[in-house]
Amino acid sequence: MNSLIIRRLVFAMLLLNIPFLKAQSPTKGTSISSRFLDSVLQDYAFRSFSGHRQRTGVIYDGIMSPEFSGITVSALRLRSGRLRRKGYYGYKEFEIPGGVFVSPYVERLVLVYQNLGNWSSVYYPLPGYLFLSPVVGLLAYNASQLTAKRLPELDLRASENPILIKFESLGVPADGVLRKCVFFDLFGGVEFDRVLNGSVCSIAKQGHFGIVVRESVPAPAPAPAKIPENPIAVSGGGSAGGGKWNNEWWIGGVVAGVVWVVVVVGGLWAVRGCRQRRRIKKMEYEAEGGVPLAVAVIGSALVPVAMATRTKQVLENEYVS
Ligand SMILES: *[C@@H]1O[C@H](CO)[C@@H](O)[C@H](O)[C@H]1NC(C)=O
Ligand SMILES: *[C@@H]1O[C@H](CO)[C@@H](O)[C@H](O)[C@H]1NC(C)=O
Ligand SMILES: *[C@@H]1O[C@H](CO)[C@@H](O)[C@H](O)[C@H]1NC(C)=O
Repeated sequence: MNSLIIRRLVFAMLLLNIPFLKAQSPTKGTSISSRFLDSVLQDYAFRSFSGHRQRTGVIYDGIMSPEFSGITVSALRLRSGRLRRKGYYGYKEFEIPGGVFVSPYVERLVLVYQNLGNWSSVYYPLPGYLFLSPVVGLLAYNASQLTAKRLPELDLRASENPILIKFESLGVPADGVLRKCVFFDLFGGVEFDRVLNGSVCSIAKQGHFGIVVRESVPAPAPAPAKIPENPIAVSGGGSAGGGKWNNEWWIGGVVAGVVWVVVVVGGLWAVRGCRQRRRIKKMEYEAEGGVPLAVAVIGSALVPVAMATRTKQVLENEYVS
């Protein structure tokens, strides 16, 4: 009886945890390389100033070397006072309103724009999702030394209205597939938000941004006999096959998705067994110690975790492979 309750709770927790886990695990591994890319792209963007008169308020496009073909960068130098008062509308996809400021204070700053193009999912992999837009980045730097390399980012925040990102070219998803804005902060964190007006994301911080949809079949499926490659893939000719969505496909996709989720959950569960075990132990401890811990916040949902006290062996045998 008790084990059934625990099983249900654990299952609910896992279900609610899935987007979080999927979002977190890949970026943890790649945050170093994407941060290294930020520093490389800062250099490329700053180099676009050389040979110009370095006017403020003018967008300079960087020239990438062939090894980064597909990525574009730009640099925009602004007085921070002007940015705060007036914002800057139309920096590529970004509409920056007044009220945006950086800390620590600098008199002039450079806003580096990145468009990762076909490299988006290489540097920002998000298993279970497909990018409909390229990943674009907006990062703020001290403009005092335009030849500086490996500059740290300033902290950029919108204090009044959010910064809007207006994506132009989205791969066309099938009807009923929910688009989401995804936001990668500079510390490996991932957040999702709703899309405004079909292709607009709104944010208050710097980082990297894109629009994604949930993938309904596993991408690395070994030669699926009947299920076609997901037609909403954004790679180049994404429009081909867009009309193939029909009931059979949906049912197949949903079934495959459910199977896949079960497999993924099983895998994650095994990998995270140790951590879960520790967490469960802690919860038991807290339950036994009388610490008032009625609910835990998982995602945006409140899930009761004050489960009946169990021995560790039962949990291990049943849920940790
Ligand atoms: C992106 O496209 C360019 C050509 O435009 C190509 O050279 C590069 O290898 C591609 N990168 C990836 C990761 O596919
Ligand atoms: C900006 O760069 C200049 C020159 O390197 C330095 O003197 C100043 O302290 C920097 N400001 C901040 C906030 O890092
Ligand atoms: C959405 O579209 C409406 C009508 O075109 C427009 O008034 C509004 O500003 C748009 N919102 C955003 C966030 O772009």
